[in-house]
This record gives sequence, structure tokens and C-alpha cells, in this order.
Amino acid sequence: MHILSFLVNFGVNLFALDNESHTAMDVAASRDRMDCVRFLDAASSQQTNQNPKKVANLKKEAIKEAEKGIQLCEKVKKKHQSKMDKMQHRADNTGSVSEASMASAFSKGGTMSGINEQFSKLIAADKSGSLTARVKGTLQKNRPQNQSVPSRGQNPDSSLSLSTRRELYERDFPVYKQPVEVGCFSLDSERRFFNDGRQMRYYVEPDRSPNFDLRDGYKDRFIKRDDSVKEKLDHMLRWILANRSKLSARGTTASSCDLDIDFVTWRGHLTKLLTAPYETREGWQLAVTRFRGTLYISEVETEAARRDQENRTERHEEMMYWGYKFEQYTCADTVHGQPDPGGVLNTNEAFCTVVQTRLADHRLLFSGEVDCRDKDPNAPAAPACYIELKTSAEICTPKQRSNFHRFKLLKWWAQSFLPGVPRVVAGFRDEEGVVVAMETFPISKISHLIKNEHNCWKPTVCMNFCSDFLSFVKHIATEDNPSVVYLLSWEPRRDVTFSVHRDSPYCFLPHWFVEEMTSSQPSHQS
Ligand code: A3P
Ligand code: MG
Repeated sequence: MHILSFLVNFGVNLFALDNESHTAMDVAASRDRMDCVRFLDAASSQQTNQNPKKVANLKKEAIKEAEKGIQLCEKVKKKHQSKMDKMQHRADNTGSVSEASMASAFSKGGTMSGINEQFSKLIAADKSGSLTARVKGTLQKNRPQNQSVPSRGQNPDSSLSLSTRRELYERDFPVYKQPVEVGCFSLDSERRFFNDGRQMRYYVEPDRSPNFDLRDGYKDRFIKRDDSVKEKLDHMLRWILANRSKLSARGTTASSCDLDIDFVTWRGHLTKLLTAPYETREGWQLAVTRFRGTLYISEVETEAARRDQENRTERHEEMMYWGYKFEQYTCADTVHGQPDPGGVLNTNEAFCTVVQTRLADHRLLFSGEVDCRDKDPNAPAAPACYIELKTSAEICTPKQRSNFHRFKLLKWWAQSFLPGVPRVVAGFRDEEGVVVAMETFPISKISHLIKNEHNCWKPTVCMNFCSDFLSFVKHIATEDNPSVVYLLSWEPRRDVTFSVHRDSPYCFLPHWFVEEMTSSQPSHQS
């Protein structure tokens, strides 16, 4: 309110419009800021009464300025699109796999049917951003014909960067094929890897207001995973070695890579990419290595994250336990079993799904931890039977609801949409850590829930940014060498930049993986 009254007294145009033709009063109303609405309403009535002609001019000026803003936005988008097209063109020429071979990779065994092509639309339920409609047709493909192709092994131009500005990614929803589970693995109470689903848990539906005490057991029945141990991609790499025959290029399909996969990573790293255009606090660093045609992406802890982790308060530490405790109250170890909230909670244990999918022309293989599955034997096949469990502070005011929609649902949506997990079951807790209400959020309904939030996040922006980021990576990470790391760094409100490191501590592909992949061929299972 102070800023608002300062600006009005300073003489700003009260009738100014944003790129979606909203006045300041519209924005205030959409955010339930009735104090601001009343103030702006009174100020505009006063100006209209005093000098209606001047107000008419101000309104005209506002429309002109908004049009200018939209034009500028279109220009920036065109420039970005042209840059991405150039990168794509170069990536195509440097041996990326063609559409035809990608199609063949996903038509095997009928797992990727035509119906699945519609996955993006069904589960995201948001095909394009509102601005996209207005500037439709301006993003013409403009492929340059005479680009020189950077040779492999040559460092790319490190001044290249990638913007995370939201408006650049407001275009049609990219193709995102229905993720197919190609396997799973488990980590036991000592973090040992097993190539099976032994840690899978089954969801047991609680009462609508279950009164779970999430603080119970924090002091005496909690074994916390040592998060100073950086596991990088190791568990996924173990899974790849154990399941190589499921992934390798088969038959006569010409492919420049062994695995028929462009990117291998954790789901959590992709979640960070999806949410980057809306992230205002935490940056990230991602290490990328190209090895036998596949790009491996592994997170590097930033200095800021390390400091935050060291300086966590006791309350924060305890609150991080609450989410796991909620899982213990709602999950059983066997299909007919019951949860055991009196047992020891060990966060080393995990069940992870491994899924394969395609985003635009990027073939992805990633893994993510899954909380539990539907215990109904008639439930659909994985990943559609999986359930993500979440806790959140109870919502008591419109402002809290709005924040929940704008920030929390973005993270929940991104995390589950990626592997095709269709629902989130949430426990809402009070200040004391007691779950007072339960609610299920189907992922496909989340974009409807947030529709009325002004200037809210858009699924299409998240997915387009991720797709362009992966194109950027393909373009810069050209040298196929397990001891070369391309380090991509990002801070909120900055562009993504990168640096190249040889034989450095950033190297993350272990010798056992490189040797096994280099020395032996997978045995093909029929
Ligand atoms: P909530 O999600 O209920 O907060 P996930 O939901 O991804 O399965 O993670 C399970 C729980 O681990 C979380 O429960 C939270 O308690 C904890 N957790 C996961 N990532 C975290 C992070 N980055 N910071 C704090 N807590 C985290
Ligand atoms: Mg969870």
C-alpha cells in the first residue's frame, strides 16, 4: 500500500495495462488485495471527475504502451526462437538422431501408441499460454541454411547463454510422450542398490481428518540418510548396466549413440529445469558429460545450498522429517498390510521408478523416487498406479490459498507430471505438525485450479524451457569424453551460462561405468 500510494502521488498512469491488458486494479482484485482496489478505485474516480479529457488521453496512452510492450515481447521471442532454431540445426548436423529413428525407438512393443501422443494435452490440460494466442503466427521457423558446424572436441563459444524469461517460452505445449516405466530399483536401509521393487509401498487411505502427529518419533525412531554423501548418478548408472539390453540400439536403426537415449538424469534435476522460469530464490549447477552419444546430467551442489544446509535451524530439520513421517502413516510394506507408525523411520530406504519418454526431439531416461502405489490389483500399470504424498501447511486465508497455488502446486505438478504420476495425496498440517485435513490433487486438474491466479505459472512455459535447455546442452556439449564436464550454472534473474572442465573434480561418470560400457556389449534378450 505504501508503494502504491507513493506511485499514485508521484503521478504514474493509473490506467496503464500489462501485456494481458490488466490494469493495476484488475491485478489487485485478482489477488484479493481489496485495500489496494479501494485505493485505486478512489484515485481513478477522483482523476476522472477532475479532468475527464486528461483521463481519456491517459487511457489511450496506456493502450499504446501496452501494444508496444507486446510488440517488444514478440521481438524478443522471435530472437530467442531463431537462436534455438540455429542450435537445433547445428545439433542435427552434428549427429543427433533424426525424427525417424526416434519414432522407431518408441514404437517397439506397442508401449508408445498414438494415444500416448496425446499425453501432454491430457495430463497437463493446458496447451498454450494466453499470450501465445495473441502472438500466434509470429514464431515462424527460420532455419539458417549456411551455419558452420562446430566440430567435436572444439570448445563451444562460452559466451553463449540461455534466458529463463517466462515470456520466451509461452508457445504451444511441446510433445511430451507418455512416460513408460522401463524398470525400477530399490535402495535398502543401508543405501544398497537392488535391481528390483522390494522397497515398493502400498497406499492405505486415512480418514479425512486423521490427526496424525508428524513430530512423533523424530527424537528416538529416526535414521536420517547422510546427505553429505553425494551419490551423483551412481544408482541410475548401476540400473543402466543391469538393464542395458533394454536400452541399446537394436537392429539396423542407425544411431550415433549406444543407448538410444539422448539424456540420462534424475527426475529431480528435470523438476528444477521445469520450475526455473518461476524460481526466484535458489539457483543450480548441472554437470553434463557426453559419453557414447548420450548426455548425462548430474547436479553439483551450489555454495549457497551448502551454506543453507549447514545453517538449518533445529525447527527446519524437524519439519523436513514431517513429510517422511506422513509417508509412514499412510503406507504399508505389503499389499494387504497396514502402516506401522510405531516403527523406525529410515530415509535411506527408497523405491525408484525408471521411465523413458520424449520431450520434443529429446529422448529421455530418468529415475525418480516413488512414495507408494495404489494397492488395488486392478489399478493401471506403472507409472499410472503411483501416488505422490505431500504435506503442506493448512490453508486458512485467501492469501495462503493463492500462495499454495502459485508456489507449491508448481513444484508438485512438475515433480509428478514428469514421470506420469497421476495424483498427489496431500496432508494439511497445523503449526504443531498435526495433519488436520487430506486432499487428493489429480495432476491433470492442477492447471484448472490455478487458472484464476493472476500472472501464475504455466505448464507450457515449464516444458518449453526444459526442451530449449536440452537443445542448448546438445549444442554446447559436443565432445564425447567421460572426463569432460560442461558445467551449466544458473542464478535467478540471470541467464544460464556454462564453462568446460577437463579431468576436474566435476567428473561424475565412475570408472566402473565407463569401463563396463566400453569393454562389453550388452547381451540382447529376446
Ligand atoms: P513433503 O513433500 O511432504 O514436504 P517427496 O515429497 O519429494 O517424496 O519428499 C519427501 C519428504 O522429504 C518431503 O515431504 C520433505 O519432508 C522431505 N524433503 C524432500 N526434499 C526436501 C527439500 N529439498 N527440503 C526439505 N525437505 C525435503
Ligand atoms: Mg512425497
